[in-house]
Amino acid sequence: MLVQATTDGPLRTGADTIVIGVFEGEDVAHDVGDGTLRALLESGEARRDFKHLAVAHAEGRRLILVGLGSREGFNGERARVAAAVAEGRARELSTRSLCWEVPHHVGEDVIAGLVEGTLLRAYRFDRYKPAPEKDRPAERLILSAHHEIAGAVARAALVTTAQNRARDLANTPGNELTPERLAAHAQRLEGVNVEIWDEDEIGRAGMGAFAAVAQGSLQDARMIRLQYDGRDDGPRLGLIGKAVTFDAGGISLKPSAKMEEMKFDMSGGAAVIEAIGALAQLQAPVRVLGIVGATENLPSGAAVKPGDIVRALDGTTIEVNNTDAEGRLVLADCISYARREGCERLIDIATLTGGIVVALGSTHAGLMCNDDAWAEQVATCAADTGELVWRMPLHAEYADMIKGTYAQLSNVTDRREATALTAAEFLHHFAGDTPWAHIDIAGTGWNGHRPYFDKGGTGFGVRLMVAVALRAGAAA
Ligand code: BES
Ligand code: MN
Ligand code: ZN
Repeated sequence: MLVQATTDGPLRTGADTIVIGVFEGEDVAHDVGDGTLRALLESGEARRDFKHLAVAHAEGRRLILVGLGSREGFNGERARVAAAVAEGRARELSTRSLCWEVPHHVGEDVIAGLVEGTLLRAYRFDRYKPAPEKDRPAERLILSAHHEIAGAVARAALVTTAQNRARDLANTPGNELTPERLAAHAQRLEGVNVEIWDEDEIGRAGMGAFAAVAQGSLQDARMIRLQYDGRDDGPRLGLIGKAVTFDAGGISLKPSAKMEEMKFDMSGGAAVIEAIGALAQLQAPVRVLGIVGATENLPSGAAVKPGDIVRALDGTTIEVNNTDAEGRLVLADCISYARREGCERLIDIATLTGGIVVALGSTHAGLMCNDDAWAEQVATCAADTGELVWRMPLHAEYADMIKGTYAQLSNVTDRREATALTAAEFLHHFAGDTPWAHIDIAGTGWNGHRPYFDKGGTGFGVRLMVAVALRAGAAA
């Protein structure tokens, strides 16, 4: 969808459908025809309640009136939702070009939200099953405001397009999106320096934990290193992503029910790749290093076995007591590598545990962090972008639960407790005292329940990581 901003009035944009929001206690800012909109509100057909929709026709256009609820409560998230419900109705009306009349006196978060909500709701994963003609989204979105909003609109469109690309990667099945193909995708990003290691190089570098996960599968693993330097100096932010392109559990095989969902186990890595691609497109004045560990996790005669002991990049010995706890093995070596490369701050993002799904559902991702100031920054950006996080504790007692019997660490606790937190403590061992935030997106990464999502990948983390990088860059 082509996205544009204009200071022309909606009727002058050539759009066939115009969306007009109305707040509680207010009237429409600009009526059309002979007071069409006011009459619609007075008749009760249109209402100011949040998300209420009414359709009218005037001056040869379709008009969609959307209730926005109270002005005080209207924020970026409500803008995304309002835009999503309007897009749904516009699509039913066979809209080809859609113009939002931006409400007066709203902030940049609302303007961005209108773009995001429209583009996220219009997204279709139709590569294998073309959407029916009648379900085609508009070709053009125009935001009309009295003041210049072109910059904000362009930035939001760029980042949301990256988020939708992350959804495409997540939705692509494991037979098509192999580690090799994911790496090839990363290599096509413009303005990013991408270096790829194959499975041999991963092993030879001493990444014994990552290599152990990879050894069971015929598909060759990849470590994807993405470097973007938007300035010559300043701190380097490390973004580390889990990209298990299919997680069958390995020898500790998962039950077959819903196993197909494990194609989404690369969502963290996809978010890292697309966030860095977006930062490069924005020419953001930041320095970031992305490390994505891409592999399958399958059972075979060559697979790592329960009880096997492996040596991680930093020398730590690990007992692999459950081969289905593979994400932390991959991430451990990627985290050590990012620290070695001089990253001063780290974020890792991963569909890591079923435990976080039970605890937080699809509303918040889990945030575990060894540094209060860093956690605060991540949480602030999460609130700003609507990609919410909820901080959960690290504690020495959780760390004790993953001590090994025969090696330094075990990759699982043998108590059926606190799986998300013991997983975080496992990663904490490798992050050490470098400020590090772990984001568990097993619940938020796919099948989001917000009106702007459909089933499948959500692209969670792209907007959040872009915001964190921009903020960290601005602070430096
Ligand atoms: N990829 C899974 C986590 C997951 C589960 C993501 C459900 C999305 C939905 C991860 O590799 C895994 O298998 N985790 C196990 C760890 C356990 C064996 C300690 C889990 O959480 O069940
Ligand atoms: Mn697993
Ligand atoms: Zn997994």
